[in-house]
Order: sequence, then structure tokens, then C-alpha cells
Amino acid sequence: MQPAREPLKLGLFMPNCSNMYAISSWRVIEDEWTWPSNLAIAGAAEEAGFDLLFPVSRWRGFGGSTDYLGTSLETMTWASALLARTSRIHVYSTVHVPVFHPVVVAKMGATMDHLSGGRWGINLVSGWSREEFAMMGMELLPHAERYQRTAAFIEILRGLWTAPPGRFEHTSPWYRVEHGVSLPQPARAPQIANAGVSDDAKDVIARLCDWAFVSTPSIEATPAIVADVKARATARGRSVRAAAFPFVLWRDSADEAEAEIARIVEHKDDVAAQNWLDGLNIGSGSFDSFTLDMMSVGAGAVHVVGTAEDVALKLKALYEGGLDAVLMVFQGYLDDTRRFAREVMPLLREMGVSAPAAGVGAPA
Ligand SMILES: Cc1cc2nc3c(=O)[nH]c(=O)nc-3n(C[C@H](O)[C@H](O)[C@H](O)COP(=O)(O)O)c2cc1C
Repeated sequence: MQPAREPLKLGLFMPNCSNMYAISSWRVIEDEWTWPSNLAIAGAAEEAGFDLLFPVSRWRGFGGSTDYLGTSLETMTWASALLARTSRIHVYSTVHVPVFHPVVVAKMGATMDHLSGGRWGINLVSGWSREEFAMMGMELLPHAERYQRTAAFIEILRGLWTAPPGRFEHTSPWYRVEHGVSLPQPARAPQIANAGVSDDAKDVIARLCDWAFVSTPSIEATPAIVADVKARATARGRSVRAAAFPFVLWRDSADEAEAEIARIVEHKDDVAAQNWLDGLNIGSGSFDSFTLDMMSVGAGAVHVVGTAEDVALKLKALYEGGLDAVLMVFQGYLDDTRRFAREVMPLLREMGVSAPAAGVGAPA
């Protein structure tokens, strides 16, 4: 008999950055990037029974009238503080490969694993913004090489976390680790994710990661995207789980919800959205099919919009399309997290998408 499938994990793509919810100047509440907001949202998510919190890593904004993501809380320090103030929810850091040395990240990650009882995970991203790297005197590597370096980074992390102390060796064009040791090793293997959509990204995910954080233009397009990355892992005798980031907005009627989306698009920040899209496409064209209107709503998030029931049905469709987790983008995170718990989660439970206790105690 097939083992029952794990329920859909519910997560937040957190507003640790300014203007996180949209590349638009339309706003219904104050921006939520501040620490008190992040802490309150994390508390509400934990209380609601959400499984994971996930940040964006940025070093500067993207210009335009919003300076999209221009103010942000750094994600290793952010995760450490949130883990210390929560007790059940899993918290990820997003780390740019060229910015940190893997020996340093191995130590920081093991520290967070120990202080949280195994609730920390890492989203390792290759980086794509020339302007961010220029600020650090670094060049953006050619696309394929970015991912070769990411693979080397993951091999070093895993090596330091699992090899007998002093016995880990690594040499690659980017790193040399002699007699590598990092103690304590994590008590539980931290989950490693990569967020990328190109073939280079999917191959690193299939070979080395636990999670694929995918970008998908629509609910209908999702099953094929997820199946592709999972099949690449299966071909290597591995399995990976997949998460996407839906923009979740619901009102009493579907028309009201769509009218709100239209307002976000109408007020989109064209300059920042274009800067964002141009940068993301460098070397890969991974987001060629995305328009500025699509980018303006949650930076290319898949729309999950309508009434509470529509939203539950659309999340169910994403789950049936192969997703193991959703990292939701909300227009007003604190209120929407609480509303989601009241208005949408009961429907997800009825539909068998969420566990009765919304995944309490399940590994994220
Ligand atoms: C869900 C998701 C989250 C991402 N988060 C970040 C991030 O926080 N910082 C970053 O620099 N890039 C982030 N990226 C960008 C990717 O890591 C990658 O650089 C981008 O998709 C371009 O590479 P590709 O052509 O391989 O897809 C994210 C992408 C996705 C799909």
C-alpha cells in the first residue's frame, strides 16, 4: 500500500524586506519589514499552526518609486532571533553563495540547529544582482559557473556537518578546505533548498538539495514544473520536495478580490519591476515569459485569489499538482495570517490538504 502523502506545509514568504508583498506603491497597511512586525507575524503563524517561515536575502533595493526591497533584515541574524523567540515553527535563512564562506555558514547553521532543536534550514541562492555584488567588489559569475560554485558550497556544508572531524577535504576552483572540522555538527541534518528555475538550478537541486523552491506563472503550469524537478532527482536515486510562493488574497466576493489585484497592478512600480526582471534574466532568460504586470504582484508569485473557498480550492490544486509546501505572500501579513487561520485553514482541513493540527510536530 502507498504511504499516505504528507499534508501540504503552510509557510510564509516573510516581509523581512520593505515592500515585500508587491512591486507596487498600492498599500493598504504600513510596511511590515520591521523587527516588531516580523516577530508578531512569526508568533501569529506559529499560533495558527503554520510550518515554516522563509525570507528573501537582499543587500540593496531595486530603485523606482518604491526602491523595492531596499530596506531589509539580514536573514542569518533574523532567523537566529526568530528561532529564539518561537518554539515549533521552522525558520529558513537565505544565503548568497559568494557572500559567505561555507565554513562560516556551516558553523552558523550548526549553531542555529542546536539553539532551535533542529528547526533551521537554508535556502542557498547563487545571486543574480550585479549591483549587489559590485558593492562587495565581486563579479557576477557566468550562469553555469554560479551553480557549479553553489554545488561546491553544498558539498562543503554537508561534509563539515557529517564527516568525521578533521577528515573533510575539498578542492575546487572556488574553495580549498584542508582537514575540515566544524564542531558541533548539527544534531539533525538542516534542510537545504535552492530557489532557481533554470536547468542549471534544477540539476543542482536534483543532485544535492532537499527542497526545490520553484517559480511558476500559473496554477495550470505548476504540475509540469514540479514533475520535471522531481523526475531529475528520481533519475539520480534521490527525492526532493517542492515549494512555490503563491500570492494569496481573498475577499467576500471573487470580484472584490480581483479588483484589489487590479489596483496593485495599476500602481505598479515599472522601473523597479523592470530592473528586477532584467537582473533575473541575466545569463538564463529564466523569466522571459513574465510580464511587468505579473512581476508587480508578489514579484512573479502565482495568483491564488478569490473568495476563501476559491483560495482553498486553488491551494488544493497546487497540492495535487505536486507541491509539498506553499510560501505564501500576503498583502497584510499579520492580519491575513490570522484571517487565513480562521477562514481558509478549516476548509483545507476538510479537503484533506492540511493535517487536522496543521502539521504540528511534522518535520519541515
Ligand atoms: C522562490 C524563490 C526565492 C528566491 N529568493 C531569492 C533571494 O532571496 N535572493 C536572491 O538573490 N535570489 C533569490 N531567488 C532567485 C534565484 O535564486 C535565482 O538566482 C534566479 O531564479 C535566477 O536564476 P535561474 O536562472 O537559475 O533561475 C529566488 C527565486 C525563487 C524562485
